[in-house]
Amino acid sequence: MAVGVFDSGLGGLTVLGAVARRLPDVPFVYYGDNAHAPYGVRDAEDIFRLTCAGVERLWAEGCDLVILACNTASAAALKRMQETWVPKDKRVLGVFVPLIEALTERNWGDNSPPRQVETRNVALFATPATVASRAFQRELAFRAIGVDVEAQPCGGLVDAIEHGDMILAEVLVRGHVEALKRRMPAPQAAILGCTHYPLMEETFANALGPDVKVFSQASLVAESLADYLARHPEMRGPGLRSVNLTTGDPQAVSDKAMQFLRRPMPFEAA
Ligand code: DGL
Repeated sequence: MAVGVFDSGLGGLTVLGAVARRLPDVPFVYYGDNAHAPYGVRDAEDIFRLTCAGVERLWAEGCDLVILACNTASAAALKRMQETWVPKDKRVLGVFVPLIEALTERNWGDNSPPRQVETRNVALFATPATVASRAFQRELAFRAIGVDVEAQPCGGLVDAIEHGDMILAEVLVRGHVEALKRRMPAPQAAILGCTHYPLMEETFANALGPDVKVFSQASLVAESLADYLARHPEMRGPGLRSVNLTTGDPQAVSDKAMQFLRRPMPFEAA
């Protein structure tokens, strides 16, 4: 039954909350690699190695399907994992495609040729590694033409969130939005392309202003997962327990998770 949810740290909890609400009968196993966060400043080799280690731990918990609730790992490691590493009876899926399908007004898995879409100016906020990978622009180009993407690498933001320093996180969000708006003064849509950033969604929305539509990755991923499991029921793994695992200090991570989600969220050592 169980499905795995992977992130470098606390950000994937925004996705876990949405998938658990959408699929209340599925046990979810969460793995936060808090000891090695942030991934966004690491090189692709490092991100690949750490992500594979986390995914193997989730397979050991009986999760044959793992969602990379981490844009950085989805952008920097997923393609290589799928092409060279994931065995035939397991699946690892990323969080980019559901978001891009929503932005480009497509239904799940619509692989028709790229076409003109309503949204022409898109602001992308993501980690330095995600921005450097250009994976977002690559996936978008398969589906839409004529969309101008301005990407802002939000250095320091994941670190501030992982350390619970919300004052610094707010200052950083405002600074990154200002920097982006100097290059693209009137974006129509904003993508929070890192699963940590919805924890700062209000600050992003205030800084961007009321005319910018902010895309929420968590609920889109939840819909996409529900659809995937309906089509592939065999990918529900043999695991039966829901548990939250961390490579960091379980007590400290549980405390921070509770601060963000405002409900108890106990973690065990991975
Ligand atoms: N939450 C992750 C993401 O979606 C990882 C951020 C990081 O560890 O730098 O990109």
